[in-house]
Amino acid sequence: MCHLKWALIILAAIAVAGCTKKETPAPAAEETAAVEEEKPAIPAVEPIKPLPNSVNVDMDKVLLGRSLFHDTALSGDGTISCATCHMLDHGGAEPRKTSTGIRGQVGPINSPPVLNAGYNFVQFWDGRAKDLQEQAAGPVENPIEMGAKWGNVVERLKKNAEYVATFAKLYDDGITKDNATDAIAEYEKSLITPSRFDKFLLGDESAITDAEKKGYATFKEAGCTACHTGIIAGGTMFQKMGLVKDYFKDRGTTITDADLGRFNVTKNPADKHFFKVPTLRNVELTSPYLHDGSRATLEETVQVMGKYQLGKDLTDAQINSIVTFLKSLTGELPAHAKPPTQN
Ligand code: HEC
Ligand code: HEC
Repeated sequence: MCHLKWALIILAAIAVAGCTKKETPAPAAEETAAVEEEKPAIPAVEPIKPLPNSVNVDMDKVLLGRSLFHDTALSGDGTISCATCHMLDHGGAEPRKTSTGIRGQVGPINSPPVLNAGYNFVQFWDGRAKDLQEQAAGPVENPIEMGAKWGNVVERLKKNAEYVATFAKLYDDGITKDNATDAIAEYEKSLITPSRFDKFLLGDESAITDAEKKGYATFKEAGCTACHTGIIAGGTMFQKMGLVKDYFKDRGTTITDADLGRFNVTKNPADKHFFKVPTLRNVELTSPYLHDGSRATLEETVQVMGKYQLGKDLTDAQINSIVTFLKSLTGELPAHAKPPTQN
């Protein structure tokens, strides 16, 4: 099999090597002291880690996955694709409080972004899917999302000569549910969005503004990184919504099943209202916020986080500063992300 099939890694390794260089202890103290005073080295351990510039994926599978992701043939009535609820121009999420599936059915929960989703330790707000492939099987058969049966979807795809040829080239057993979800997962894995903030993390001090640096400091000082940590500033743990104050009581609307979060998977009462901590990458683009889609702006959302997760009444200045930082996490979609017709 030809090696060109594998997308080249634009050496994340080089970037990492560049970064680790900073951690090597400085040799002679006198020689380096002056330099270090002028330009303090970035602490070796930052709570947020840089996104690589690219990932190792099979580009042919990625392009097949891209077609499937945007294809309404995956829904029962041919009206809905994955992209209907995960809009690339909306940070991979959707501009609605909660999702709307086939025949206008309104779902119980806000759609999280698919961009950078490969870095989530589990998928879905309640973590009920272990990875992207397992996740991708779900929405197709969810009656209020795409409302189809995989058996019918596979039959429909088999009527498309292009799919038949592409699947045959990439998979020994051609078009199957597993192969379709494998290709979709490969596509999603490729949807990474490095931003100016990553350049900053890798040592380019001028990549973000002073206001953004100040915002990042405020974000850390406030304690946000206790939960929003790692490569995507989230996606590494479950945490309770309303950790220090009862969010649901104050929200004033009836508690729904979706509000129970992780409890729906484990049935352990201690897991009530626990959710996967969402990523903050591209959060500027993914309004409305929270699992219930109840907050329209980042300012409101940050205020809610301060109050219910940290027990702090953040000042407007702190909130605005944090929001300024959050916007530096807005990245660039890779060139292949959109189907040619949408470019
Ligand atoms: C009708 C709208 C809708 C459609 C169509 C849809 N999704 Fe989703 N998606 C959602 C919602 C809502 C959630 C969150 C559900 C939950 O956590 O309970 C979600 C969750 C996800 C997640 C998990 C992200 C995370 O952070 O946990 C991924 C990945 C995803 N969808 C990919 C897909 C793929 C692939 C398809 C097509 C096969 C698809 N979605 C179709 C609405 C939709
Ligand atoms: C104790 C853990 C914890 C802390 C601390 C925390 N968060 Fe969160 N954050 C969460 C959880 C859990 C959610 C999802 C809650 C929900 O959807 O109901 C969330 C959601 C968010 C969202 C919405 C993301 C989206 O896509 O809907 C933003 C923005 C956010 N947090 C920013 C912050 C900021 C800024 C701070 C610091 C002031 C902070 N968080 C502190 C756990 C935490």
